[in-house]
Amino acid sequence: MSFIEIRDLIKIYQSQEYSIRVPALRGIELEIKEGEFISIIGPSGSGKTTLLHILAGMAEPSAGYVRVGDIRLDQLSEKDRSNYRRHKVGTLWQIPNRNLIWEINIFENVEIPMRLLGIAREERIKRAKELLAEVGLERRMNHKPQQLSGGEVQRAGLACALAHQPYLLLADEPTGELDSKTAGDLLKYFKRLNETHGITAVMVTHDFDVAKATDRLIQIVDGRISGYSPTANLKTIRDMHQVYLDTYGTIQLPRYIVEKMQTQKEVTIEEEDDKILLIQNELKKANRSEKTKKKKATPKKKKK
Ligand SMILES: Nc1ncnc2c1ncn2[C@@H]1O[C@H](COP(=O)(O)OP(=O)(O)OP(=O)(O)O)[C@@H](O)[C@H]1O
Ligand SMILES: [Mg+2]
Repeated sequence: MSFIEIRDLIKIYQSQEYSIRVPALRGIELEIKEGEFISIIGPSGSGKTTLLHILAGMAEPSAGYVRVGDIRLDQLSEKDRSNYRRHKVGTLWQIPNRNLIWEINIFENVEIPMRLLGIAREERIKRAKELLAEVGLERRMNHKPQQLSGGEVQRAGLACALAHQPYLLLADEPTGELDSKTAGDLLKYFKRLNETHGITAVMVTHDFDVAKATDRLIQIVDGRISGYSPTANLKTIRDMHQVYLDTYGTIQLPRYIVEKMQTQKEVTIEEEDDKILLIQNELKKANRSEKTKKKKATPKKKKK
């Protein structure tokens, strides 16, 4: 059984100000195995953060089925969702001051959330030291975040995210503010922690090179999964030829195919051996008239 199972997830935001409804997720279907490290890539506004917020228990699904471990997120009360968020999920955001408190040192940053959860003092100290060592910051424990580099701050944020031993780690553009070398370093630590702690991790990124460091890449376009692929041997995003066919038979075609086709026009489906062809009716008509023209132009053989 998958660790995370999402079926037909819909999220519609209701804007109070303009009394309009914004559909952010339009039927997401996704399964993630325990211990898997996946990345989510997609254009701005495609629903990546919304999906992460739902998995983090920070937003309520409008409809659909969302299970993490044995918890049905779509059925939780506000109070239970807040409990789930505090105990089960670790988060790492792009903006460092969402991850760390600026006024205290990084040891305290890792230790204090455990204190709030009632973990014993000795255990807190031991775990904070271990985690900071795991992200290579054992010598910087007494430093405040502003005394660290951008990469170190994100590594401290990573230690913080894991302090309460969550079973799910969610990261939204964690390398967004870093140069590519520092981003690569953070990813190494991220991957190592994912492996040693066996924690399931989901990371949103807009950077294909960052996504390639994960086990599997999911692409979201307009609130739907458009494709997914294991990252091994994936050279460019165009190599993602696998599209996702959901249980209702819906397929989101890749953007470059949509751009080639004339949308809003009818499409005919034909089977040919082991292939299924999508043929634009306009194109079909044009081909047919082309064939008729050719036929007319070819002189008939005389009967003997
Ligand atoms: N609180 C909100 N109220 C209304 N609409 C929202 C809210 N949050 C997000 N949206 C809308 O939902 C859609 C998806 O937003 P989301 O933030 O999930 O996209 P994203 O893929 O994370 O984009 P980006 O790459 O820019 O971070 C967008 O159209 C956005 O404007
Ligand atoms: Mg976002």
